[in-house]
Formats: sequence, structure tokens, C-alpha cells
Amino acid sequence: MELTERLKALAKHVITGEPAADIGTDHAKLPIYLVIHNICPKVIATDLNEMPLNHAQSEVREYGLLEKIELRQGDGLSPLKPGEVKSVVIAGMGGNTIARIIEGRPEIAREVRLILQPMTDSYALRLKLVSRGYRIIAEELVEEKSRLYEVIVAEAGKMENLDKVEIGLGPVLLKNRDELTRKYLTGQKEKYRKILINLQKAQVKDLEKVREISEILNYLKEVLKSWPIRRK
Ligand SMILES: C[S@@+](CC[C@H](N)C(=O)[O-])C[C@H]1O[C@@H](n2cnc3c(N)ncnc32)[C@H](O)[C@@H]1O
Repeated sequence: MELTERLKALAKHVITGEPAADIGTDHAKLPIYLVIHNICPKVIATDLNEMPLNHAQSEVREYGLLEKIELRQGDGLSPLKPGEVKSVVIAGMGGNTIARIIEGRPEIAREVRLILQPMTDSYALRLKLVSRGYRIIAEELVEEKSRLYEVIVAEAGKMENLDKVEIGLGPVLLKNRDELTRKYLTGQKEKYRKILINLQKAQVKDLEKVREISEILNYLKEVLKSWPIRRK
């Protein structure tokens, strides 16, 4: 089975040879790929909703993998028992939903590698992870159909000597000086520029928010100003 670049980027970070879970699996493409490619001996594929889970079940059955991919219905990490898996993938959901899922079952989240792909609010997700005692061990960007996706890999632990803006924008991503990172940071600059304009136009001024967004924007301007010129 061929995976999209986004799903392949997630698979790359799953711990090889150990069971994994895919939370909000929907089509179950990732679990099927992990088992077929011998990355995981077993995958627990969960979903909150019955319809996607039925979809997942028919896909898994088609591949003859019902013994290796266990389907469970439930919210977030609640279908998992402590110690069952070593990696947990939570992808294709909003950053705040992902944060809520992790906060809901810390006894499970803290003992696994978390492989996260938020569709929105990645800044808030990273800050929540770090403030709850996780460290970001890897990050990558994937471009698919002209959209950029962020993959964040985290484990229980401390991150030292970083300021809030660096954590929110991606402490590992910020170390890269490649074209995709420049594109990502330029997109972020544009996003925060628009947010700031709207905040400044608002009747009731949220001065704390204005200060926060201005700080992010200034950081982005500085980083992009000193970006190395690409050689042809
Ligand atoms: C957009 S799909 C993403 C599917 C797949 N993870 C991917 O990245 O391609 C989101 C899935 O997450 C499920 N979902 C949403 N909230 C959830 C929660 N709290 N717990 C488990 N699954 C959830 C939805 O039912 C849906 O099937």
C-alpha cells in the first residue's frame, strides 16, 4: 500500500518492532501500512465515531489484518490500557483537540512516544506540551497538494533554555534553514500579520493578545531577515 507523504512522515517516527496506536484512525491507512511493512507487530486503531471505525474495519478486513490491527471505539486515549503500546499517533485533528486528548490520560501519554500532526493551533499545542512536561524530540514539515503539514514528535521530559515564541513556532523546525522551513515561517508571518490587523481593528482591545502576537511577528521578521540566500 502506498501512503501519502503526510502519513509516511508519521510512520517514520513510530518505534520499530513495538506495538503502536493510531487515535482517530478513520480509514486505517496508517495502521495497515505499519503492519504490512513490519514496522509494528500490532496496532490498536481507535476512533470516537462508529462510521469511520466501520470504514477502518472493512479496510483492515480487505487486507486480512484483523488479527494484527485491533479496532476500538472511544474518545482519545481512553480505549488504551497503560503499557499496551510504545507509540501513539494522533493526526488530522485540531491542535486543541490533540492537547485535550493528551491531557485526558497523562498516565498513558507520558509513557509513549507521541507522534502528532495538528491541522490547526500547532503553536498552542507545543506550548501546552512543554508546560505539561513533554519535550519535543523531532519535527518535520510535509508539503502535500500545496498545503504544509507539521509533524511534532514528543516524549515526557524537559526542554530547557527556550523562550515561549521559539517553543510555539517549533524549536526543532527553527534549527533548519531549508526552503520548506522558510516557506512555513513566511506563511506563519502572514497569518500573524492578519491576526494583528484584526486585533488592532477590534472595538475592545485585547492588549495582552496584541503584545503576544506582536512578539511572534517580530521574532518571525528577524529570523526571515537573516535567512541564508539560496545558491542556485
Ligand atoms: C480527519 S480524520 C483523520 C484521520 C487520520 N488520523 C489521518 O490523519 O488521516 C479525524 C478522525 O478523528 C476522529 N476523532 C475526532 N475526535 C476524536 C477523539 N476525541 N477521539 C478519537 N477519535 C477522534 C474522527 O472521527 C475522524 O475519523
